[in-house]
Amino acid sequence: MFTMECLGVNEKNNLTIGGVDVSELAKEYKTPLYIMDEDHIRRNCRIYKNAMDKYYGGNGLILYASKAFSCLRMCRIANEEGLGLDVVSGGELYTAIKAGFPMEKVYFHGNNKTPDELMLAVSNNVGRIVVDNKYELSMLSELSGSMKKEVRVSFRIKPGIDAHTHDFVKTGQIDSKFGFALDTGEAEEIIRYANSLKGIKIEGVHCHIGSQIFEIEPFLLAAEKMISFIADLKDNAGIEIKELNLGGGYGIKYTADDDPVQYDEFIRHVSGVVCDLSQKRGISLPKILMEPGRSIVAPAGITVYTVGAVKEIPGIRTYISVDGGMCDNPRYILYQSKYTALTVNNPAAKGEKIVTIAGKCCESGDILIKDIKMPHVSSGDLIAVLATGAYNYSMASNYNRIPRPPVVMVRGGKHEIVVARESYEDLIKNDL
Ligand code: LLP
Repeated sequence: MFTMECLGVNEKNNLTIGGVDVSELAKEYKTPLYIMDEDHIRRNCRIYKNAMDKYYGGNGLILYASKAFSCLRMCRIANEEGLGLDVVSGGELYTAIKAGFPMEKVYFHGNNKTPDELMLAVSNNVGRIVVDNKYELSMLSELSGSMKKEVRVSFRIKPGIDAHTHDFVKTGQIDSKFGFALDTGEAEEIIRYANSLKGIKIEGVHCHIGSQIFEIEPFLLAAEKMISFIADLKDNAGIEIKELNLGGGYGIKYTADDDPVQYDEFIRHVSGVVCDLSQKRGISLPKILMEPGRSIVAPAGITVYTVGAVKEIPGIRTYISVDGGMCDNPRYILYQSKYTALTVNNPAAKGEKIVTIAGKCCESGDILIKDIKMPHVSSGDLIAVLATGAYNYSMASNYNRIPRPPVVMVRGGKHEIVVARESYEDLIKNDL
């Protein structure tokens, strides 16, 4: 049976997370409820940070990709653990500002940053703007003039790597809305152009080849292409790139079938390619950045639901409907993502029947888990869906005017609400 490192079972035979009884949390905070183990998040941050320190001799930085899960507390955790931050919108940037995140360690991504977002970033002295297109570059050059500030930039490059993952999360190949293609010469051209602009300081290049990737190979290929590109830029244009950001994308375990590589192993392999090739091409080792999101938070989170209606359609399927669904976890309806679920009481109970766990939205596709073998489940039981710490809360919506669940963090046996449950009043607060 698949379970998560931060889960356990107590003497009452109830599921625990970070040592806290999940049924007690459900009683106190109601369901649906996102629960995250803060100690586990911090442990994941440290695994990454220590590996970067070890394999790049301190010349590396982990940026937490806050799109996976952003809130004030999460920004503070990332900061306390010595990480930088990847933000991808004015909203994520604003959250970082309000959390007191050091702006020099914030990297601003996005394929269509608006003038207002760029203004917010430049006026707050964000560490790097990761330039995605020429329009953005021209806006930055103007802003730099009008605000009399030097803008430090990196460039989003498409290295042309087609990682084996779901179509919607492949971003490194040529047919992608993100960045400048390397193979067509577009990437070199834009960097040469940026080099001619006043107020723009070129610091780095960046690539991101996809998400939920298990193979090391595409990352090695991407690293190789990016180092070669940096060396070519130096040889052909005399432009020195000081930073290489290799993006995120490391896969995690959602079900027993998933077999992810240890993160530090990933970094060890990639560092081998980066260091060897830099030496071979005669360039000084750039500062290396990585941007994991999912792998830091997903394995630290679960969502707890109460079972409502149980509908048996003889010979066809049994639907177990819960009090949440696509509004708090749209990943099945978007990507047919697979999850594991446990009963909160007696989580080790043997599965006896294939069922489908459905949500409460007015939408047939509103499924959380299709065809999962579960023990007997009745109305009123609590079930926990595992590994929901990434891209669940951050992708939640108010579809059907369903309020978003709260996020509770457990730490050292204690628990605390870090994002409050939305109320019906919250739902209408912008209605005029
Ligand atoms: N850096 C960049 C530039 C990215 O675009 C992403 C994710 C990351 C870092 C972090 O990747 P991670 O380590 O989390 O895989 N909503 C989808 C995932 C979309 C990922 C988009 N970019 C999902 O739920 O699977």
